[in-house]
Amino acid sequence: MARTSLTPLLVLLAALAMVAAACGEAAIDAVDVEVVEGTFDPATTAEQATGTVALLLPERVLDRWEGPDRDNFEASMAEYAPEVEVLVFNALNDSAQQQEQAEQAITEGADVLVVAAVDMVAAAVIVDDAEAEGVPVIAYDRLIRDAPLDFYVTFDGEDVGRAQGEWLMANTDDTDQLVVIHGSEDDDNAHWFADGYMAILDEAVDEGRRTIGYENWTPGWDPSAAQTSMEAALTALDNDVQGVLSANDGMAATIIAALEAQGMAGDVPITGQDATVEGMQLILRGLQGMSVFKDLTVQADMAARIAASLLTGEGVPSELVPDTVDNGMVDVPSALLEVDVVEDAAGVQNVIDAGLYTLDEVCAGLPDGLFDPCD
Ligand code: GAL
Repeated sequence: MARTSLTPLLVLLAALAMVAAACGEAAIDAVDVEVVEGTFDPATTAEQATGTVALLLPERVLDRWEGPDRDNFEASMAEYAPEVEVLVFNALNDSAQQQEQAEQAITEGADVLVVAAVDMVAAAVIVDDAEAEGVPVIAYDRLIRDAPLDFYVTFDGEDVGRAQGEWLMANTDDTDQLVVIHGSEDDDNAHWFADGYMAILDEAVDEGRRTIGYENWTPGWDPSAAQTSMEAALTALDNDVQGVLSANDGMAATIIAALEAQGMAGDVPITGQDATVEGMQLILRGLQGMSVFKDLTVQADMAARIAASLLTGEGVPSELVPDTVDNGMVDVPSALLEVDVVEDAAGVQNVIDAGLYTLDEVCAGLPDGLFDPCD
């Protein structure tokens, strides 16, 4: 009885083996991307995870990517997956180079890609190619559109933009004229942030409470391009500017330089994002109004948890990806993290307490008397 019932099973197994062979190695090696009900167990994960993960960073303009993002990702991988090799690439804002780096990573044996995309559209090719090789992709910080993306870890971009828009409204008056400097048009986040702050600013404009005198995007989030935009705005508006929405700190710093050249720095409220050391120092010096604190230690750690889980072959525990983001093709299991606002010394202390930057880093070069712990 056992013998006769085994025969069809063996035939089926043989057929499956042939299909797998026809599909190439990928069908055999494919990492299990299933979300499984349950919680993340660091100790078991550390025992089981094997293989290679590649972290693909987008740029070196901001210190976050090669700083807290990379450092915390590597540290968390060492904890949750000590046997796993971590490869790191940086595309320097070049999306074609990022695609080559993804190919190189897979050639070098990457079993999982963690990608902070330079270009939300172009990076779809990275996901398509990786999928064909059975390599799952976790979008890190920036969404990749219209591709079979597996996971996404980020901060709620609408919350970021809303915090910026609300702060600018609270710190400017009726009839004030504003300048809006967006981030990179190729980065999905830049649009997400803009959705948050423009909803607030547009309503004020519609009601005649503010005007927007100048608005521009900033390729690659490049601070020097933002400075050029601000100089153009000041010229076009004859310095009649009472507030600036800058989408991040890197751009805020050069926008402040443009204001400084006109003797206006410190008088014009300006927003930022990222709680960079430079941004926090400008806040403490009274030249920048606010920044949005994204705890990159948590974000990098979350990406490492998902990557390590994938490398156990047991799927990803559902507690890690409680949210869903539609990327135009699939509903991507996601982790949407919370943000905070920094606008004073207490906010800066909060960032230091979180471990994003050390006290020494924040104090370096800061004049005495601006931040008590430095003195
Ligand atoms: C965005 C990111 C921001 C900022 C910017 C420039 O995608 O969410 O935090 O770093 O890129 O790299």
